[in-house]
Amino acid sequence: MTIFLAGASGLVGSAFARAAARRGHRVVGTVGTYPGTVAGLARQRTLDLRDTSAITAAVLDDFPQVIVNCAAVSAPEQCAADPARAQALNVDLPATLARLAHHVSARCVHLSSEQVFPGTSQTPYAAADPVAPLNLYGRQKLAAERAVHAAAAEFVVTVRAPLLLGNSLGGQRSLHERLLGEWAAGRTPALFTDEFRQPCTAENLAEVMVELCERTDLRGMWHWGGRDVLSRYDLACRVRAHFKLSAAQAPLIAIARAERGAEVAQRPAYLALDTGPLQAKLKTRTLALTEQLDELVVPPPVRAWYLAQPALEKP
Ligand SMILES: NC(=O)c1ccc[n+]([C@@H]2O[C@H](COP(=O)([O-])OP(=O)(O)OC[C@H]3O[C@@H](n4cnc5c(N)ncnc54)[C@H](OP(=O)(O)O)[C@@H]3O)[C@@H](O)[C@H]2O)c1
Repeated sequence: MTIFLAGASGLVGSAFARAAARRGHRVVGTVGTYPGTVAGLARQRTLDLRDTSAITAAVLDDFPQVIVNCAAVSAPEQCAADPARAQALNVDLPATLARLAHHVSARCVHLSSEQVFPGTSQTPYAAADPVAPLNLYGRQKLAAERAVHAAAAEFVVTVRAPLLLGNSLGGQRSLHERLLGEWAAGRTPALFTDEFRQPCTAENLAEVMVELCERTDLRGMWHWGGRDVLSRYDLACRVRAHFKLSAAQAPLIAIARAERGAEVAQRPAYLALDTGPLQAKLKTRTLALTEQLDELVVPPPVRAWYLAQPALEKP
């Protein structure tokens, strides 16, 4: 089938393009500023996704069976820095894509976030649980969920995803890439010991999304995540151990939320999603953190630094 992929150069988008191509689908993908070629795309379009006329023309030209939206301003601090741009990408764009899906009778696979929940409960959130986002990013993701389902309920399937690990095209986007970048620059990242997340990899999420493109019987809201819930500090320690770096080579500062005062009011403390209902429907399985770490590679920007580190054995 032909799949129109918005945000093909992103962490999830690039993984989705590869996964969908492996399944034999024809993927037409958009990039914004990314200068390279995205693997897996049958056709790569460069366009500004804030330009509704350009998106409409592209979708009508490709006339896809599925529209997949991986474009976003996906970091809460970037949303806060430029709310208007974030509104255009996180809310207006999904609404436009859903309307176009309705127009061409295409399935629409939309990505949302765990950040629609307040993180005050240690029980994994079910899809129907009450939402109460703490930050602008979460409020925009919630507004998008409502907009896409209002525009095309019969065509849309939405997946709320957790913190994502993985290998990005530029090698500077995901958690392990940013940690390695900090260590290579001689800095010491500080991470919360009491803020908990349930990571999964972008590759694993992409497999789920490809299945959802094909499973026309599934619509509505679903949750996905990894098998393990752990603190951000413990996650960073696991990344460091996976890459066989010592505490001297890759130092970390453990901090508690209480040390950061009012800043943490916008950060959910404990986010875990109930993945059971979607697991029961799909062939793709959730991954333990160990399996996820095995997917991670040393990104090109820090390869020289990494190879210069004395170590007994590198993965
Ligand atoms: N990353 C996470 O931890 C995480 C967690 C939960 C949910 N999610 C959700 O998963 C989805 C994908 O996130 P991600 O982390 O893969 O995002 P990402 O890596 O930041 O990628 C964002 C994508 O959007 C494109 N884009 C942004 N502004 C654009 C513009 N004006 N015109 C054209 N393209 C534009 C980027 O293109 P260029 O780079 O080429 O400009 C890139 O392809 C989002 O809906 C996000 O909310 C992410």
